[in-house]
Amino acid sequence: MSDEYIWWRDGIIYQIYPRSFMDANNDGVGDLKGIITHLDYLADLGVDAIWLSPVYPSPDKDFGYDVSNYVDIDPRFGNMADFDELISAAHHRQIRVMMDLVLNHTSDQHPWFQQSRRSQDNPYRDWYLWRPCRGGSKPPNNWQSVFGGKGWEYDLKTGEYYFHIFLREQPDLNWRNPEVRAAMLNVFRFWLDRGVDGFRLDVFNGYFKDAALRDNPGRFGLRGFDRQQHIYDADQPELLPLLGEIRTMLDSHGSNYAVGETFLSSPEKALKYSGPGKLHAAFNFKVTQQRWQAARFARCIWEWEELNQPDGWPSYVLNNHDIPRSTTRYHFDLADRMAKVAAAMLLTLRGTPFMYYGEEIGMRDVRLSRTDIMDPPGKKYWPLYKGRDGCRAPMQWNDHPQAGFSTVKPWLKVHPEYRKRNVQQQLADPDSLLNFYRAAIRLRRNTPALTRGTFRLLEGMPSSVLAYIREQNSQKVLVILNFGTGRAVTPFPEWVNTRSVKLLLNSRAENELAISPNERITLAPAQALILDVSQA
Ligand code: NOJ
Repeated sequence: MSDEYIWWRDGIIYQIYPRSFMDANNDGVGDLKGIITHLDYLADLGVDAIWLSPVYPSPDKDFGYDVSNYVDIDPRFGNMADFDELISAAHHRQIRVMMDLVLNHTSDQHPWFQQSRRSQDNPYRDWYLWRPCRGGSKPPNNWQSVFGGKGWEYDLKTGEYYFHIFLREQPDLNWRNPEVRAAMLNVFRFWLDRGVDGFRLDVFNGYFKDAALRDNPGRFGLRGFDRQQHIYDADQPELLPLLGEIRTMLDSHGSNYAVGETFLSSPEKALKYSGPGKLHAAFNFKVTQQRWQAARFARCIWEWEELNQPDGWPSYVLNNHDIPRSTTRYHFDLADRMAKVAAAMLLTLRGTPFMYYGEEIGMRDVRLSRTDIMDPPGKKYWPLYKGRDGCRAPMQWNDHPQAGFSTVKPWLKVHPEYRKRNVQQQLADPDSLLNFYRAAIRLRRNTPALTRGTFRLLEGMPSSVLAYIREQNSQKVLVILNFGTGRAVTPFPEWVNTRSVKLLLNSRAENELAISPNERITLAPAQALILDVSQA
């Protein structure tokens, strides 16, 4: 593995949900200027890149994931001049900027769709997936929408159905149409020319659907969408050549990066679409679906590592805007002991870590009453599924009203805990989660074994412990993580000379590193240790 610094391999990518990060113009919605005012905070935290969830004009049926213009900024977030300023202010601090490209579907308000739905012979008709009824009035096939109900919407005016895998206000594009393909590649070029460094591709493996629109076969599941095997509405063979074309374009613009949001993800699928000649990375969400148990994480990490041998480059994510925050998901203790263990893991595994705003201060999901729910699937399935608003609450900057996010009532409720849990308070507390993230990120950056080093899981550990070795040249780092709420007595690998072990980071600084004469180490509940064991 080359020793030269490669930002998307060695660095940390931080996802910003712009409407919830910082509201500079005090209209209740976060904006680009708000992000600019906190770039120093991000530089200080040590992130190498930010990924912005969509900031394009959008009717907001799916909070920006329904785009009505790919080459502009929604006025609520600012304008192109603000965007240019953000790019140059970020670059000035060595922070790269990634855009979220939502190219599987547009908004139904996009001019392309507005044209397309006018008549069957409109030049834009074939930009979307229109089909006549089957057998009189039935939809063309059995495909479903992820957000509930059928995937086909009947259009009275032109007497045909169009397909939408998400909301009916998010019609899917027809990527087999060369004009669509060319228009989309131009969207990449537009942002690259503005100085963007990379992209996150929304539902990229859904771009192509089966050309013959065959019915998906059934399987056991609770809801319509889950009761099908998704073999015809995603992951079609045409995708790989397209990814090759995208990669060639990115490479020809410099070291631009693309990570795909793997739809219906599995580790195998994520691997299939990433690597040379494909995307740089594709998310493996299996890690986010594990229970908080060392053995489960060990299995899942081992599997991902094995798949990525010999030269794949994994990525890891614990949080994003679609799932409950890890602190809430795992019911972490309020003193953030376990959140530090999770942070130590994310920042020392082999692969690119993705963080989500607020993760570094241990934000919890906000609880909302039914009337406050904004997310469409939450509205539809309440109380069975309450939607994704919980993890999208405004960033907690300080203990001022609205947590310092805005001076007016924000678009989504601030977490009531903000007076105790905020950036200002955590910066001042040497033992805070935020300061632990900062220290771990600094350590990672200065320790080649933790960025490019090889990875080896250690066996024979107590059941609550996950331990591994990262190694680069002669540098060896041992990471020991106690996932449990009890103490754990952990052996060292026999080649470690315990007398020359050096402590690099201890998540429970109050507990001194104590190695017993029989060369074991006793971990406190929820303790993470990062040790230099190079002098074996
Ligand atoms: C995945 C995005 O992460 C999610 O927020 C969105 O609702 C769907 N794609 C549709 O774009």
